[in-house]
Order: sequence, then structure tokens, then C-alpha cells
Amino acid sequence: MLLPIFASGQQKITPESIERKMQWFADAKLGIFIHWGIYAVNGVSESWSFHNEQISHEDYMKQVEGFKAKNYDPEAWAELIKESGARYSVITTKHHDGVALWKSGPVNVVKDTPAGRDLLTPFYDALRARDIKTGAYFSLIDWSHKNYPGFLKDSSRYKVADEPKRWEKFQKFNLGQIKEISAKFKPDLWWFDGDWEHSAEEWKSTEIRDIILSGKPNAIINGRLQGYGDYETPEQNFPVSRPAYPWWELCMTTNDNWGYRHTDTNWKTPYEIITIFVDAVSYGGNLLLDIGPKEDGTIPEEQVHILKELGAWNKKHGEAIFGTIPGLPQGHFYGPSTLSKDSTSLYLFLPGKTSGNVMLKGLKNKINKITVVGEGSSLDHKVVGKISWSPVPGLVYITVPEEVQDRYVTVLELELEDELSLYRGKGGLQ
Ligand code: GLC
Repeated sequence: MLLPIFASGQQKITPESIERKMQWFADAKLGIFIHWGIYAVNGVSESWSFHNEQISHEDYMKQVEGFKAKNYDPEAWAELIKESGARYSVITTKHHDGVALWKSGPVNVVKDTPAGRDLLTPFYDALRARDIKTGAYFSLIDWSHKNYPGFLKDSSRYKVADEPKRWEKFQKFNLGQIKEISAKFKPDLWWFDGDWEHSAEEWKSTEIRDIILSGKPNAIINGRLQGYGDYETPEQNFPVSRPAYPWWELCMTTNDNWGYRHTDTNWKTPYEIITIFVDAVSYGGNLLLDIGPKEDGTIPEEQVHILKELGAWNKKHGEAIFGTIPGLPQGHFYGPSTLSKDSTSLYLFLPGKTSGNVMLKGLKNKINKITVVGEGSSLDHKVVGKISWSPVPGLVYITVPEEVQDRYVTVLELELEDELSLYRGKGGLQ
């Protein structure tokens, strides 16, 4: 199936070339999202707090004075990201408030805050040194820019139709920043945001794609460019049925906010994060898990804890996650599953402490071996209800003793005699 996002792009993209380009992303499964900006000073919501008039724009912008980044340690950030198991990281180069994290535009952390330095270059360097792909979040919206139409939720500066020249001016500036990021940071992945305020024509989506791809032909572009991206980005809300897109990424906060807020203590637990992650992977998606560092550059300890627990779990179970493909369609097993690329190893995920009784339906293959991933024990299985003269496979029952179970999610590897083959019928005689 050719998606509109591929069909509408004006570059010559073939399904094969897109698949090649997307391969690292498909294998990566986990990315870390970072929302860092002046909003961490007062702990108000990123950009939206002034847009929605919870704080005046003037007071919001005053936060520049308190943004010091005194304890910012990009090497330590990158190390923690590595430890989490993530293969890429996306940082806010500029949010809707227009404050750039490098020296660019009317407001930026180099010129306007006591931090006084480009915060992106050392972070991207630290990621690259660890073989982690680099991502640039860039807000198309710039609610602080004098030539940007939108400002507060109920008051705009002007309408594009009324002042096309002024919009052109903004466009020139906006494309200029995209060019700067392209040339200076050469991100592997672009994460646009805010496309909903204007059409593809108004944003010049095709030109944006061209700027990016002419500098780096293999750069990946997320789906928030009014139809000109490479993959879809469901936000916060988890899909219940398998999305149709070949590539997708769930972006999700670790508490209820993208940026740091002192008042938000509604942390997701490592168990919740790991089960959501596993579910996304079994549906063919990635998880882009967000952290919001404090104004001084320290990462809240709860987020450090989540990343470390996730990392320890990934270290133990990585073979069932990274580089795998989506697992069984619904109906065969009550839980998430993945497959090795050659479809000869089936991984079953058992969230939480389980009863230890696993049942699998419709598996035609012979199972050579069952192993508890990361723990090493071999398990027996029993085939129940196989009628000798019928092609319908029996049910596979596996008992998983408590002592081999993981505290978060236990994983079983079923080594199959050959490529996975499933019975999808209605039972009975055929
Ligand atoms: C939303 C918000 C924004 C946040 C983003 C992350 O689109 O506008 O604040 O950065 O989601 O996905």
C-alpha cells in the first residue's frame, strides 16, 4: 500500500528506497525525546502556558533570565540514553516559544540567557560518539516571532491572506533556520511539530523536504509536515489495533508533561513504560520516550530511574526487541510478541508476575526449543488437542516457573523448526 505521505512527495521515492532509508529506524525501536527550554525555570508548560494565557507572554519570556544550564553534562545525558538501550534521541532545537537552543534567530539561549552557549553541538557530538542517531525537533510554529501570524489562543497578529509579504518574510526566516540546522547539526532524523496551523503550501513542505534531503539524502522526516513526512507519530494515546502505516512511533511523556514541571509527580512506573514499549514494538512501532531536564540541566531522578530500569530490562531482553519484526496477529496469544527477521524465532512477552501458564493457538511449526530470554532456562511444552488426521494444529501449553520470571516482563524465545507458519481458520475439520 502506498501511503499518501509517500505518494504526495515530489522526490522520486520508490518503496524500496524508502525501505532502505527507514531500516535503522525500524530496527531502533526506542528513542529518547528531550524537551528542554526556558519553561523549565518556572516549571510552566512548554510554550502552551502563554499561548493558552495561563501566564503572560512577557512573564513567560522572563524565564530566559533564570535559564543557566549550570550543571548541563551532555556526555552524561548521552551515557544515560545509551544505558536505556535507545538507538536515537530527539531534542527540541526550538519549541513553539521560538527560543532556539543554538545561536539563531531573535531569541536564543546563547544571546539571551545566562547559559550563554550553544547547547546542541556538544549533545549531538556526545550522541555520535556513542553511535546513537541524532534527531532535531523543530517547531514550525513560532508564536514569539513578530512576523508569525499566530500568537495567543484568541488573538493572532495577522492573517496570511491579508499580509502575504509578511508571511513570506517569516517563511524566509523559518527556512533559514531549517537550513542552519541542516548544515550545522546534520541530524539523522527531523521531528517537525505544529504543522496544524498552516497548509503544506503555506509551510512550503516540499521545499523543506528538499532542503533537508539535498544536504542529507537519507535523513528521516517525521509525519508532521502536512503530508510530507516518512512516518506517523501518534502522541500519548496508544493505538489499540495495529496501525496501517509501515513505520510509526508513539511519543509519550514519563509523567504528564513534556517539559520539566516541579508540580507534576504523576510518574509512570518502569513496569508501565516497559509494557507500553513492548506493546508498541509488537505492533511494529517505536517508542519515543520523553524526558524534561531541569533548568540547570539535571535530569529529574525519577526519569533517570525509569531510563535505568528500562535499560536493565533491555540489556537482558534486547534480542527480543531490537532488530525484530512485529509478532503474531491477534488471536494466537494473549500478549505482545515479536519475531526475528527470518521468522524462525518467536518471542512471547509475559507482563508482570504471571500465573506461569502460557497458551498459544494455531502454530503449525514444530518447536525445537523454548528458552527464557536473558535467564537461560529451557522450558518444556505440551501440545494439546492435536487430532492426528487433521491439519489444524493443537494448542501449545508452556509452564513458566515463578523463579525464572522477570519482575517486569518475562520473555520466552520459541525456536521454530522453520519460518513461522500459522493456522488462521475457524477450527473444526479444516
Ligand atoms: C504537541 C505539543 C508540544 C509537544 C509535542 C510533542 O504537539 O504541541 O508541546 O512538544 O506535542 O509530541
